[in-house]
Amino acid sequence: MKQIETKSKASLTPTKPVRVDSPRTHARLTLRMWQERDREAFLALVGRSRAHLDRWAPMHNPGETDEQLFDRQLRLAMEGDATGSAARRLTVLDNGSIVGGFNLNQICRGLTFEADANWWVDAAHCRRGFGSQGVNLMLGYGLGDLPEGLGLHRITCGIVAGNTPSERIAVSQGFVKQVGVTSHLQVGGRWIRHDVYVASPDSFANRSAA
Ligand SMILES: CC(C)(COP(=O)(O)OP(=O)(O)OC[C@H]1O[C@@H](n2cnc3c(N)ncnc32)[C@H](O)[C@@H]1OP(=O)(O)O)[C@@H](O)C(=O)NCCC(=O)NCCS
Repeated sequence: MKQIETKSKASLTPTKPVRVDSPRTHARLTLRMWQERDREAFLALVGRSRAHLDRWAPMHNPGETDEQLFDRQLRLAMEGDATGSAARRLTVLDNGSIVGGFNLNQICRGLTFEADANWWVDAAHCRRGFGSQGVNLMLGYGLGDLPEGLGLHRITCGIVAGNTPSERIAVSQGFVKQVGVTSHLQVGGRWIRHDVYVASPDSFANRSAA
Protein backbone atom coordinates (compact mmCIF):
# COMPACT_ATOMS: atom_id res chain seq x y z
CA MET A 1 0.00 0.00 0.00
CA LYS A 2 1.28 3.47 -0.80
CA GLN A 3 2.41 5.66 2.04
CA ILE A 4 0.45 8.89 1.74
CA GLU A 5 1.98 12.18 2.92
CA THR A 6 -0.05 13.15 5.97
CA LYS A 7 1.54 16.43 7.04
CA SER A 8 -0.85 19.36 7.39
CA LYS A 9 -0.85 21.73 4.50
CA ALA A 10 -2.44 24.52 6.55
CA SER A 11 0.85 26.25 7.26
CA LEU A 12 3.27 27.61 4.73
CA THR A 13 6.14 27.37 7.19
CA PRO A 14 8.38 24.53 6.03
CA THR A 15 8.77 21.85 8.70
CA LYS A 16 12.19 21.02 7.31
CA PRO A 17 14.58 23.01 5.15
CA VAL A 18 13.21 23.50 1.66
CA ARG A 19 15.38 21.64 -0.78
CA VAL A 20 16.84 24.07 -3.27
CA ASP A 21 17.59 22.28 -6.50
CA SER A 22 20.08 23.57 -8.98
CA PRO A 23 18.34 25.01 -12.03
CA ARG A 24 18.22 22.36 -14.75
CA THR A 25 18.90 23.66 -18.20
CA HIS A 26 17.99 22.24 -21.60
CA ALA A 27 18.90 24.44 -24.56
CA ARG A 28 17.08 27.73 -24.01
CA LEU A 29 15.02 26.71 -21.01
CA THR A 30 15.54 26.49 -17.27
CA LEU A 31 13.27 24.57 -14.91
CA ARG A 32 12.99 26.43 -11.65
CA MET A 33 10.87 27.07 -8.56
CA TRP A 34 8.00 29.59 -8.51
CA GLN A 35 8.78 32.93 -6.87
CA GLU A 36 6.70 35.85 -5.63
CA ARG A 37 8.38 38.06 -8.22
CA ASP A 38 6.78 35.93 -10.99
CA ARG A 39 3.37 37.45 -10.16
CA GLU A 40 3.26 40.24 -12.73
CA ALA A 41 4.54 38.11 -15.62
CA PHE A 42 2.22 35.25 -14.69
CA LEU A 43 -0.82 37.54 -14.64
CA ALA A 44 0.05 38.83 -18.12
CA LEU A 45 0.58 35.27 -19.32
CA VAL A 46 -2.75 34.05 -17.98
CA GLY A 47 -4.49 37.08 -19.46
CA ARG A 48 -3.34 36.18 -22.98
CA SER A 49 -3.50 32.38 -22.54
CA ARG A 50 -6.80 31.84 -20.73
CA ALA A 51 -8.75 30.52 -23.73
CA HIS A 52 -5.81 28.37 -24.85
CA LEU A 53 -5.45 26.77 -21.42
CA ASP A 54 -9.18 26.40 -20.82
CA ARG A 55 -9.57 24.27 -23.92
CA TRP A 56 -7.71 21.23 -22.57
CA ALA A 57 -6.43 21.94 -19.09
CA PRO A 58 -8.16 24.81 -17.28
CA MET A 59 -6.05 26.07 -14.40
CA HIS A 60 -8.62 28.24 -12.62
CA ASN A 61 -10.97 26.84 -10.03
CA PRO A 62 -14.56 27.97 -10.54
CA GLY A 63 -14.82 31.69 -9.68
CA GLU A 64 -11.08 32.05 -9.09
CA THR A 65 -9.43 35.31 -10.17
CA ASP A 66 -6.04 35.40 -11.88
CA GLU A 67 -4.48 36.85 -8.70
CA GLN A 68 -5.98 34.02 -6.62
CA LEU A 69 -4.72 31.52 -9.18
CA PHE A 70 -1.17 32.87 -8.83
CA ASP A 71 -1.42 32.77 -5.03
CA ARG A 72 -2.60 29.16 -5.16
CA GLN A 73 0.10 28.09 -7.64
CA LEU A 74 2.82 29.70 -5.51
CA ARG A 75 1.42 28.13 -2.33
CA LEU A 76 1.14 24.67 -3.90
CA ALA A 77 4.72 24.89 -5.16
CA MET A 78 6.05 25.93 -1.75
CA GLU A 79 4.03 23.31 0.10
CA GLY A 80 5.09 20.64 -2.36
CA ASP A 81 8.75 21.32 -1.75
CA ALA A 82 8.33 21.71 2.01
CA THR A 83 6.52 18.38 2.41
CA GLY A 84 8.14 16.48 -0.46
CA SER A 85 4.67 15.79 -1.85
CA ALA A 86 5.12 17.67 -5.14
CA ALA A 87 7.68 19.31 -7.39
CA ARG A 88 5.91 22.13 -9.23
CA ARG A 89 8.16 24.16 -11.48
CA LEU A 90 8.20 26.90 -14.10
CA THR A 91 10.29 26.94 -17.24
CA VAL A 92 11.88 30.26 -18.09
CA LEU A 93 13.98 31.59 -20.95
CA ASP A 94 17.40 33.14 -20.52
CA ASN A 95 15.75 36.58 -20.56
CA GLY A 96 13.56 35.54 -17.61
CA SER A 97 10.30 35.14 -19.55
CA ILE A 98 7.99 32.49 -18.16
CA VAL A 99 7.27 29.80 -20.76
CA GLY A 100 5.19 27.24 -18.91
CA GLY A 101 4.47 25.10 -15.89
CA PHE A 102 5.60 21.50 -15.38
CA ASN A 103 4.30 19.71 -12.33
CA LEU A 104 4.96 16.50 -10.49
CA ASN A 105 2.11 16.01 -8.01
CA GLN A 106 1.12 13.34 -5.51
CA ILE A 107 4.67 12.18 -4.94
CA CYS A 108 4.37 8.94 -2.98
CA ARG A 109 7.34 7.10 -1.55
CA GLY A 110 5.92 3.69 -0.73
CA LEU A 111 6.92 0.33 -2.21
CA THR A 112 7.63 2.29 -5.37
CA PHE A 113 8.28 6.00 -5.74
CA GLU A 114 5.60 7.53 -7.94
CA ALA A 115 4.10 10.86 -9.05
CA ASP A 116 1.46 12.33 -11.36
CA ALA A 117 2.50 14.86 -14.01
CA ASN A 118 0.87 17.68 -15.91
CA TRP A 119 2.06 20.68 -17.90
CA TRP A 120 1.08 23.81 -19.78
CA VAL A 121 2.78 26.37 -22.04
CA ASP A 122 1.99 30.07 -22.57
CA ALA A 123 0.00 30.55 -25.80
CA ALA A 124 2.62 33.06 -26.94
CA HIS A 125 5.36 30.40 -26.70
CA CYS A 126 3.59 27.41 -28.25
CA ARG A 127 4.74 25.36 -31.25
CA ARG A 128 8.44 26.11 -30.71
CA GLY A 129 9.38 22.90 -28.93
CA PHE A 130 9.14 24.36 -25.43
CA GLY A 131 6.45 21.92 -24.29
CA SER A 132 8.62 18.97 -25.33
CA GLN A 133 11.72 20.48 -23.74
CA GLY A 134 9.90 21.24 -20.52
CA VAL A 135 8.57 17.68 -20.19
CA ASN A 136 12.07 16.42 -20.97
CA LEU A 137 13.51 18.52 -18.13
CA MET A 138 10.72 17.49 -15.76
CA LEU A 139 11.16 13.77 -16.46
CA GLY A 140 14.94 14.03 -16.23
CA TYR A 141 14.55 15.60 -12.81
CA GLY A 142 11.80 13.31 -11.55
CA LEU A 143 13.26 10.04 -12.79
CA GLY A 144 16.88 11.00 -12.13
CA ASP A 145 18.76 9.29 -9.34
CA LEU A 146 18.80 10.84 -5.88
CA PRO A 147 20.09 13.24 -4.71
CA GLU A 148 20.24 15.30 -7.93
CA GLY A 149 16.90 13.91 -9.15
CA LEU A 150 13.83 12.77 -7.25
CA GLY A 151 14.55 9.07 -7.75
CA LEU A 152 11.02 8.27 -8.94
CA HIS A 153 10.27 4.88 -10.52
CA ARG A 154 7.04 5.77 -12.28
CA ILE A 155 5.41 8.99 -13.46
CA THR A 156 1.81 8.92 -14.67
CA CYS A 157 -0.02 11.55 -16.67
CA GLY A 158 -3.57 11.85 -17.93
CA ILE A 159 -4.27 13.36 -21.34
CA VAL A 160 -7.68 14.01 -22.84
CA ALA A 161 -8.04 12.08 -26.10
CA GLY A 162 -7.57 14.46 -29.01
CA ASN A 163 -5.12 16.77 -27.21
CA THR A 164 -2.67 16.12 -30.03
CA PRO A 165 0.19 18.36 -28.86
CA SER A 166 0.26 16.73 -25.43
CA GLU A 167 -0.11 13.24 -26.88
CA ARG A 168 2.90 13.91 -29.13
CA ILE A 169 4.94 15.37 -26.29
CA ALA A 170 4.16 12.45 -24.00
CA VAL A 171 5.12 9.77 -26.51
CA SER A 172 8.24 11.57 -27.76
CA GLN A 173 9.52 12.08 -24.23
CA GLY A 174 9.14 8.48 -23.07
CA PHE A 175 5.59 8.14 -21.76
CA VAL A 176 3.87 4.92 -22.84
CA LYS A 177 0.13 4.99 -23.41
CA GLN A 178 -1.71 2.40 -21.31
CA VAL A 179 -3.99 0.83 -23.88
CA GLY A 180 -7.57 0.58 -22.67
CA VAL A 181 -6.83 2.41 -19.41
CA THR A 182 -8.62 5.68 -18.70
CA SER A 183 -9.04 7.74 -15.58
CA HIS A 184 -11.41 10.52 -14.57
CA LEU A 185 -9.44 13.53 -13.34
CA GLN A 186 -10.82 16.73 -11.89
CA VAL A 187 -9.83 19.66 -14.09
CA GLY A 188 -11.10 23.17 -13.49
CA GLY A 189 -13.80 21.81 -11.20
CA ARG A 190 -15.07 19.18 -13.66
CA TRP A 191 -14.42 15.43 -13.86
CA ILE A 192 -13.06 14.57 -17.31
CA ARG A 193 -11.99 11.22 -18.77
CA HIS A 194 -8.28 11.05 -19.61
CA ASP A 195 -6.10 8.48 -21.34
CA VAL A 196 -3.35 7.25 -19.02
CA TYR A 197 0.35 7.40 -19.88
CA VAL A 198 3.26 6.11 -17.79
CA ALA A 199 6.97 6.92 -17.87
CA SER A 200 9.77 5.04 -16.13
CA PRO A 201 13.53 5.50 -16.06
CA ASP A 202 13.80 2.86 -18.80
CA SER A 203 11.13 4.33 -21.06
CA PHE A 204 12.67 7.78 -20.61
CA ALA A 205 16.15 6.50 -21.43
CA ASN A 206 14.79 4.70 -24.51
CA ARG A 207 12.54 7.53 -25.71
CA SER A 208 12.35 8.09 -29.43
CA ALA A 209 13.21 11.81 -29.27
CA ALA A 210 16.48 13.05 -27.79
C1 LIG B 1 0.20 20.94 -24.94
C2 LIG B 1 1.15 22.13 -24.90
C3 LIG B 1 1.92 22.11 -23.58
C4 LIG B 1 2.14 22.01 -26.10
O1 LIG B 1 3.13 23.00 -25.95
P1 LIG B 1 4.10 23.37 -27.19
O2 LIG B 1 5.21 24.17 -26.63
O3 LIG B 1 3.32 23.94 -28.30
O4 LIG B 1 4.63 21.93 -27.62
P2 LIG B 1 5.79 21.62 -28.69
O5 LIG B 1 6.12 22.85 -29.46
O6 LIG B 1 6.88 20.93 -27.97
O7 LIG B 1 5.04 20.61 -29.69
C5 LIG B 1 4.85 19.27 -29.37
C6 LIG B 1 4.32 18.54 -30.59
O8 LIG B 1 2.95 18.90 -30.79
C7 LIG B 1 2.79 19.45 -32.07
N1 LIG B 1 1.83 20.54 -31.93
C8 LIG B 1 1.94 21.63 -31.17
N2 LIG B 1 0.83 22.37 -31.27
C9 LIG B 1 0.01 21.72 -32.11
C10 LIG B 1 -1.29 21.98 -32.59
N3 LIG B 1 -1.98 23.06 -32.21
N4 LIG B 1 -1.86 21.07 -33.42
C11 LIG B 1 -1.19 19.96 -33.79
N5 LIG B 1 0.06 19.65 -33.35
C12 LIG B 1 0.63 20.53 -32.52
C13 LIG B 1 4.16 19.95 -32.47
O9 LIG B 1 4.29 20.03 -33.87
C14 LIG B 1 5.03 18.89 -31.87
O10 LIG B 1 4.99 17.74 -32.67
P3 LIG B 1 6.34 16.86 -32.95
O11 LIG B 1 6.81 16.40 -31.60
O12 LIG B 1 5.90 15.76 -33.82
O13 LIG B 1 7.31 17.81 -33.57
C15 LIG B 1 0.37 23.46 -25.05
O14 LIG B 1 -0.37 23.42 -26.25
C16 LIG B 1 -0.57 23.72 -23.90
O15 LIG B 1 -0.19 24.35 -22.91
N6 LIG B 1 -1.83 23.25 -24.01
C17 LIG B 1 -2.83 23.52 -22.98
C18 LIG B 1 -2.53 22.76 -21.69
C19 LIG B 1 -2.52 21.26 -21.90
O16 LIG B 1 -3.15 20.72 -22.79
N7 LIG B 1 -1.79 20.57 -21.01
C20 LIG B 1 -1.67 19.13 -21.06
C21 LIG B 1 -2.25 18.51 -19.86
S1 LIG B 1 -1.22 17.17 -19.33
